[in-house]
Amino acid sequence: MSARPAASRRTVLRGVALTPVAALGLTACQGDEDGAAPLSGPVELGPQSEVPEGGAKLYRDHNVVVTRSGDGTLKAYGSICTHAGCPVDRLDGTRLICPCHGSEFDATTGKVLREPAVAPLKQLTVEVKNGTLVAAPQV
Ligand code: FES
Repeated sequence: MSARPAASRRTVLRGVALTPVAALGLTACQGDEDGAAPLSGPVELGPQSEVPEGGAKLYRDHNVVVTRSGDGTLKAYGSICTHAGCPVDRLDGTRLICPCHGSEFDATTGKVLREPAVAPLKQLTVEVKNGTLVAAPQV
């Protein structure tokens, strides 16, 4: 008789302990579907002259897109699709097109132009050091 209450308490505690573990497992699966690596630190992209004024350049090796506005302002975004994590491999003007399910993004703002993606691209910092573009994750 005296073992019964202890077993019940143990069962309740085991249930509470498993709940957060299950939640963490679900989160890890959602972010690990493809293997494309987002930028984890600063990276040199190349000469700033490679990005046309009013246009964009996609750096596939680094999963980064850089745009230059008419007044020379540079912007950079990670080019990993926010739908399921495929690396975006096509740039048409300033429109990025994902090869996996057809999502499209505006390279000048990172915003979604065509679903199924709904979240914008992740903005990066970009600066020119000795004539070379350097992009980095925002902190
Ligand atoms: S991963 Fe890009 S549209 Fe699905």
